[in-house]
Amino acid sequence: MKIIVLDGFALNPGDLSWDGLRSLGDVTVYERTADTEILNRAVDADILITNKTPLSAQTIAGLPTLKYIGVLATGYNVVDVNAAKERGIPVTNIPTYGTASVAQMVFSHILHLTQHVKEHSDTVYAGEWERSIDFCYWNYPLIELAGKTIGIIGFGRIGQKVAQIARAFSMKIIAYDAFSEKMDPSLAEFVDIDTVFRDSDIVSLHCPLFADTEGIVNEERLKSMRSTAFLINTSRGPLVDELALTTALNNGVIAGAGLDVVSTEPILKDNPLLMAKNCFITPHIAWATAEARGRLLDTAVSNVEDFINGTPANVVNS
Ligand code: NAI
Repeated sequence: MKIIVLDGFALNPGDLSWDGLRSLGDVTVYERTADTEILNRAVDADILITNKTPLSAQTIAGLPTLKYIGVLATGYNVVDVNAAKERGIPVTNIPTYGTASVAQMVFSHILHLTQHVKEHSDTVYAGEWERSIDFCYWNYPLIELAGKTIGIIGFGRIGQKVAQIARAFSMKIIAYDAFSEKMDPSLAEFVDIDTVFRDSDIVSLHCPLFADTEGIVNEERLKSMRSTAFLINTSRGPLVDELALTTALNNGVIAGAGLDVVSTEPILKDNPLLMAKNCFITPHIAWATAEARGRLLDTAVSNVEDFINGTPANVVNS
């Protein structure tokens, strides 16, 4: 089997091993592949592995020997899964690997917004503590999480993990999920989406990006939030109207935001959020701890193995 990895670098910049995949066939790993290079590189591939390199219907049609597509992520919107299905090509994803890591990033942003460890440390190294007439000082409001309300939108794997951590901080948990009637009411108080925005000190987004969730954080909902509230988005950038969020942050409509994802990635130079007050952005790394990437690669290898053995798993287009 000829196996081509189109864009292996983001998953494995060198600290993981491709040996598991190599044991299953003749493997070529490309760090990145431009759209114009796909057909050349994959023309005789049996198995194609992609993370974010798009595989359109036209590209799939140009790959006559292709038998399987493995996506190195949970989201598989980069592949035209229907075009693959028409050719009888299974497309697989990695349904879960990063739950703990993403929930940890949510609290990295929350703890940063509530205590500003980095900014305070920077002032110490800049000599501000030496010059202080008091034994301590703080340059940002310091906020205790105990007793605060976290509002979770999308109460799936990551949302529930965030709730579990929030409980350890003695926070009150409210949540909105499209399927909340099927969920355990002991895990959160389920409310409607507008109540989440109105009644939370922190709103954290954990629903997938669908047509009906795009822009769920809009001007009106931001205006309904507490002026002391924070928004956390580790899910997908287009859930948020970025211009509306920038305006809300710059006008004190809400107090801060912690974002791991933006509408276009890598971020564009003119993304308005780069000019927003008390807004902190990480470059889509919530998934990328070494542990989570290791789990992802193990699942990707076992997906290929299952396919070769005639028992494909994690197929998203059956
Ligand atoms: P999940 O599928 O376990 O949970 C998603 C939840 O959202 C489900 O409970 C579902 O019922 C709910 N939902 C669906 N439509 C909804 C709607 N219209 N309104 C409210 N809730 C709705 O997914 P999981 O594993 O918790 O991941 C959540 C999201 O996190 C993913 O869709 C992905 O966008 C994002 N993610 C981000 C990563 C990062 O590195 N920043 C890494 C992994 C996932």
